[in-house]
Amino acid sequence: KKFSVGIDIGGTNTAIGIVDEDGNVLVKGGIDTPSHGDIDKYVKEMADAVKEMAKSVKLTNPDSEILGIGLGAPNGNYYSGTIEYAPNLSFKGVVHLIDLLKAQFPEYKYLALTNDANAAALGEMIYGGAKEMKNFVMYTLGTGVGSGIIVNGDLVYGHDGFAGECGHTTLIPGGRLCGCGALGHLEAYCSAPGMKRTAFELMAKYNAADSLLADKSFKELDSKMIYDAAEKGDKVAQEVFELTGKYLGQGLADTVHHLAPEAIFLFGGPTAAGDYIFKPTIASMEQHLLPIFKNKIKILPSKLKAGDAAIVGASALVWKEMDKEA
Ligand code: BGC
Ligand code: NA
Repeated sequence: KKFSVGIDIGGTNTAIGIVDEDGNVLVKGGIDTPSHGDIDKYVKEMADAVKEMAKSVKLTNPDSEILGIGLGAPNGNYYSGTIEYAPNLSFKGVVHLIDLLKAQFPEYKYLALTNDANAAALGEMIYGGAKEMKNFVMYTLGTGVGSGIIVNGDLVYGHDGFAGECGHTTLIPGGRLCGCGALGHLEAYCSAPGMKRTAFELMAKYNAADSLLADKSFKELDSKMIYDAAEKGDKVAQEVFELTGKYLGQGLADTVHHLAPEAIFLFGGPTAAGDYIFKPTIASMEQHLLPIFKNKIKILPSKLKAGDAAIVGASALVWKEMDKEA
């Protein structure tokens, strides 16, 4: 039986799993993503974790074969196997991650890295809600906002491998500072930290000491708490979703105008809020769309299993490499 390793590099945690060809995660683990970057130490930790997990898979599946490693990372580049100037990671400059991993795993046939949202899009296409689709976009809402674009059944990489940075489209000229250093990007409003900023701005605006979110520090507040508060009728929390949806819908409309996708999938913590986020997003998108697109584009929650999605998507890169060779 064939397996591949899927690794999702997030701002704080690096999730690692060994996955079969049907997208089942056999073992799962993780390491910290360093908050200041000793890259060699990080790669060594990653390799050790993978080797441990590979051993345990071998025990339960003696005839198993691990074909390779697929990775998803912010600002990951498939062509060069590098992570470059990621706004929400501590690594500076260009990290040649695939080269470093090749040295650790000379026996693996396929090692590939792509943008984290691209990996999620791949996972959605192979295992999730986009199995029958050839043109769709995946938006991931987390520490950053990422996107993976599928056109004619394949990921769009663009000239140099970085296509699909929809989180860094400008929503509001001169607006909030984005993690990348520019002003007014969608990510600064619709990421999890962006939603938190909205919550704090609204609380200040209304002097809302009675909000259920009022006693939370910026650090402890998360999108789940905002959702819970909205459910309990908290006006600030409800408005956070209204505004986030308004902004996100504007971004989605741009994406529709550029690509005419069949659907846009939303993935990540904030999407657990269901209608609170989907309704205002769809309403805002429709408002900004050309008539030729109105009431046609499906805005859907990702069907990938929340905890596993990023790993599974990244692991799918290995099967893709294998297919390319066949
Ligand atoms: C990065 C993207 C990434 C997204 C989600 C953004 O800030 O520019 O490359 O996909 O965050 O991690
Ligand atoms: Na992308």
